[in-house]
Amino acid sequence: MISVFFKTYGCLANVADSELLAKYMRGLGCIVAENESEADLIMINTCAIREKAEQKLFSYVGRLTGYIKNKPHLKVGIIGCVSSYRARYFFAKFPYINFSFGAKNDLNKLKAYIADLIIKIESEKQLIGSNVPFKRIKDKNITELVEKKNLKIPEGSKTVSDFKPGRLRRSVINIMTGCNNYCTYCIVPFVRGREKSFEMETILERVKSEIDAGVKEINLLGQNVNSYCDPKTGADFATLLEKIAKLDGKFWVRFTSSHPKDTSKKLLQVMAKYPEKLCAWIHLPLQSGSDDILKRMNRTYTSEQFLEKVNWINEILPDATISTDIIVGFPGETEENFKQTLDILEKVKFELSFSFIYSPRKYTKAAEMEDDCSYETKLQRLEYLQKRQKEVSRETHDALVGKTVQVLVENVMTNGMFFAKTAGNIRVSVKPVSIKSDDKDIVNKFVMVKVVAAREALVEATVV
Ligand code: 5AD
Ligand code: SF4
Repeated sequence: MISVFFKTYGCLANVADSELLAKYMRGLGCIVAENESEADLIMINTCAIREKAEQKLFSYVGRLTGYIKNKPHLKVGIIGCVSSYRARYFFAKFPYINFSFGAKNDLNKLKAYIADLIIKIESEKQLIGSNVPFKRIKDKNITELVEKKNLKIPEGSKTVSDFKPGRLRRSVINIMTGCNNYCTYCIVPFVRGREKSFEMETILERVKSEIDAGVKEINLLGQNVNSYCDPKTGADFATLLEKIAKLDGKFWVRFTSSHPKDTSKKLLQVMAKYPEKLCAWIHLPLQSGSDDILKRMNRTYTSEQFLEKVNWINEILPDATISTDIIVGFPGETEENFKQTLDILEKVKFELSFSFIYSPRKYTKAAEMEDDCSYETKLQRLEYLQKRQKEVSRETHDALVGKTVQVLVENVMTNGMFFAKTAGNIRVSVKPVSIKSDDKDIVNKFVMVKVVAAREALVEATVV
């Protein structure tokens, strides 16, 4: 039996791809290993969004030498965004890399390749201990190889879920891939390719089977979910959400990310219509509060238009939580530009923000822009922004104290508390002492809790 280990870097889109492949490989009889030492095959799903992510990846791949020495039949494959554009470098630098598959390509080709590969690994494993040398695999163009050899996904192959006991049954599903927006700082359109929506029928079938398997939280993913368009019928994202919301069962649906330019009233109204299923949480990446920077980022909205979308959210979904992504130190960002970003933070009071120092990326327009802002200044801005965000997060959490809210419990933390989230994605630490002895098993369940205290990162609550 082949054991595969997935090392996944980056965003939920990569998590979704790795999960999909893991389920497929389980269906082919493989075991999904917990660590590298148990594996016959290591699949590294790579992230190219910022330089730091790539550096982490290279140091990880370098550290694999030890495993290779101990297990000469071990295969290593790199998939995802970095393999879209640095595969050659990988092969040159790490001779033990066996195959690469870029994020732009059709995953079905990789699935067909994997089915063939595991048969090869199985026969190699039988040679362990003999003197027969292993054949070196170096598959640089899997799509071409699969077409040439006419490799196919085995007929009747199934996907097999494996839910860990004591953990929330969550499913992350890519509803589309790629991006057409070409924000000037972003490598995604180059490494993931043009935007492509998956068929609604297929997505709905998957969601249904996940719910039947006991999944309580469905995460729909796309670089820009609001531009989802069913390739068969032309139906939009709001329609997809409504169809999912109408499915039987008790479950929550979340989605990321929403590009502010495409956030529509129709979408918000559908969310308001099904509050039991569609979580009132919008991740709305701002990136910058300066109109000048937004223009140079090619975000195609102004700060005023962003605030207008926030007003729509507050009107249509008054209890909604809004979170965001912010980039500091974009080329040419002035102190004034940065203050404009802080200004939006104060106006919107994001519950959470993910903030990053601008990282120049290959192929992107911004990488060629003049940048006279020092790294120290950028770092200071980031630290200031993050400090202020923590205070704002705390304020938004304070407003919850004393309220009774529904949460979905995810797991038990090392401190013995239960970790849960509200529909608005607010993290909740639930005290176990308050749970009746016959009701201790609350993981993967919806429970009502009373918020008793607020902190920066989460709120504390007791079961009611
Ligand atoms: N530098 C820094 N942050 C970036 N992001 C995307 N590209 C870059 C870059 N070159 C951030 C954006 C995006 C999030 C996923 O990553 O804020 O929303
Ligand atoms: Fe990158 Fe912009 Fe597309 Fe998001 S919308 S993936 S930031 S290009």
